Amino acid sequence: MSYSHTPKTLHVASPGTLGPVTPEEARLLEKLDLTRLPRHVAVIMDGNGRWAQKRHLPRIAGHRSGTQSARITIETCARLKIEALTLYAFSVENWRRPKTEIDFLMALLREYLRKEMPLLQKNHIRMRFLGRIDELPAGVQNDVREAMEKTAGNKGMVLCVALNYGGRAEIVDAMNAILSERDGHGTSSKVTEEQLSRHLYTEGLPDPDLLIRTSGEMRVSNFLLWQIAYAEIFVTETLWPDFNRARLLEALLEYQKRERRYGGIREDAASDEKPVRAAGN
Ligand code: FPP
Repeated sequence: MSYSHTPKTLHVASPGTLGPVTPEEARLLEKLDLTRLPRHVAVIMDGNGRWAQKRHLPRIAGHRSGTQSARITIETCARLKIEALTLYAFSVENWRRPKTEIDFLMALLREYLRKEMPLLQKNHIRMRFLGRIDELPAGVQNDVREAMEKTAGNKGMVLCVALNYGGRAEIVDAMNAILSERDGHGTSSKVTEEQLSRHLYTEGLPDPDLLIRTSGEMRVSNFLLWQIAYAEIFVTETLWPDFNRARLLEALLEYQKRERRYGGIREDAASDEKPVRAAGN
């Protein structure tokens, strides 16, 4: 079931887990409680184009630089023993971009998978891809399949790359999968939340506890619509290519300051009030 409410990390990293750190990272790490990290972090990597524009560079330079931020985020989360990290790499809406940019993004992803495989293996990362993968160019589909096969035996963090992904499309796909399972079985019982969860691309993963969005936009952009129901949202003005380990640690610290109630009320407030019916917020 994907909507677990357990905030604790299952395996805990040790303070030296990140290797050499800058003084700024050390200060942030000192404040971080490694036993209370989110189990699943999801990231909307936004602002590559603006980053490039500010430097009078083509947009694709922003995407290339963004892969460095992806690399740092992936390795840091894996070493902190976060269970799952989901990166929004290409949405169903991104096909509206110029063909040259789309081709570049696909090539960049393929290059990333080829070049970074040793790092993924070293960190015991298992790869998954979320989205309508069968609609991607054949070469991308092959690389995606290969990356999943090569890392299938790894027992560390699950790295999900959302590719040709749409949150609404995912819910539609889940409903259609349920309908086709029922075909010919004459089942007419109601669909449950648990059943729908099991048919999402994220099947078997905990829901994201923390959603990070870079570059300041206050939108969820059709990302993990079902799964982020109770996620803490952290929006930073930092553009994705400037997002580094210190900024990630800041997001994790901010997450630890939030009080998660899942629609209930604080425990101390509950002692003198009797809830009639849980209010959702
Ligand atoms: C949004 O910036 C970013 C994307 C649509 C692509 C993100 C892809 C990468 C960083 C490539 C690498 C991915 C992996 C998983 C290795 P934008 O172009 O919308 O920026 P803007 O809003 O400033 O124009």
